[in-house]
Amino acid sequence: MANPVAQERPTTARRGERPAFDRPLQVGSPNIPDRGRLFQRISQALDRGWLTNNGPLVREFEDRLTRLTGAAHVLATSNGTSALEVLARARGLTGEVIVPSFTYVATAHALQWQGLTPVFADIDPHTGTLDPAHVRELITERTSGIVGVHLWGRICRVDELRAIADEHGLALLYDGAHALGCELDGRAVGGFGDGEILSFHATKFINAFEGGAVLTNDPELAERVGRMRNFGFGPGREVLTFGTNAKMNEISAAMGLTALEHIDEITAANALRYEHYRAGLLGVPGVRLRGPGPGERGNDQYVVVEIDAGVTGVHRDRLLSALHEENVFAQKYFHPGCHRMRPYAQRAGLHTPLPLPGTEALAERVLVLPSGPAVTPHDVDLVCELVRQVLETASAH
Ligand SMILES: Cc1ncc(COP(=O)(O)O)c(C=O)c1O
Repeated sequence: MANPVAQERPTTARRGERPAFDRPLQVGSPNIPDRGRLFQRISQALDRGWLTNNGPLVREFEDRLTRLTGAAHVLATSNGTSALEVLARARGLTGEVIVPSFTYVATAHALQWQGLTPVFADIDPHTGTLDPAHVRELITERTSGIVGVHLWGRICRVDELRAIADEHGLALLYDGAHALGCELDGRAVGGFGDGEILSFHATKFINAFEGGAVLTNDPELAERVGRMRNFGFGPGREVLTFGTNAKMNEISAAMGLTALEHIDEITAANALRYEHYRAGLLGVPGVRLRGPGPGERGNDQYVVVEIDAGVTGVHRDRLLSALHEENVFAQKYFHPGCHRMRPYAQRAGLHTPLPLPGTEALAERVLVLPSGPAVTPHDVDLVCELVRQVLETASAH
């Protein structure tokens, strides 16, 4: 595997000199697994002539994910968005569905694209996940479900959301696109809600170029998802239901499987970089590195900092521009909230009682910093030094 765990020891960038990067540093540079093994799997798939349609690599990928997450059923899909679309359909969602606004737009789009109405709830700014009290306020007679997002790998307040869903007879689904390998009190992502989805997009913790999965412990729901992702075909090639094409192909499964074989190295590599960020940003006034809450295990795939402009004297956007000028492509994940995006904002009256103060506050403060194997621990030290210098210089003017 290309540089999954850099062997470098923690180093400190020299104070005073402005660090320079001769190449762009990106968020989520891809974890590219053992090329030899990947090419071997791809070659075998080509020899078999079985490139898609529930091939052996897809089934092996699903088996491995089943073992890893403990979910009873795993159904691989073409991407995370199609996984959520199919899951929402298969679970029978109708009318309004309560989702956080503070998420990647795919969460809202997947529902809207199915003719559902996303109703945007606020988040708890401390965790970045759905605020159960606000969810409760938004329930109407048209609400059929709740979709929580385990944002940046932070697990939603699953017990409170389960209680609300049960009380009102609602479906409860989770978008776990960021959260493979994450746990709360020993319970792994894959087992929460009626069903959860994962993403294996190239920037994700485990990458399959493009890919996704639906995970559930409900055998009937799994059966419906299995049919709907494949044009509604049941056994014997009879079309039993409406459906779409959300199948994963064998090449993606080859990549995903090979990455899963290296999950421990990827986890360790992420943790090492996170530790460098933690050490490097320690004591930088107004910059707080976010991390897992009590009882949680994260996967460190997203390195999220919060910039308190009241302390730094520098707005997050100014810091971001300064970093971009230096080839450090930090991202405003997620800004703006979905409710502020044009197609949703134009219909805000329909979708969302405003304001969403937790969402607005966090969307103005967060930055996700470069990560993944193409960013070495030494790069991380230099990024931290750059952040320190930019803030010192800007606040002095
Ligand atoms: C929170 C969230 N949900 C859903 C998705 C969609 O996944 P995909 O890109 O695999 O369709 C993504 C990201 O890519 C995401 O960040």
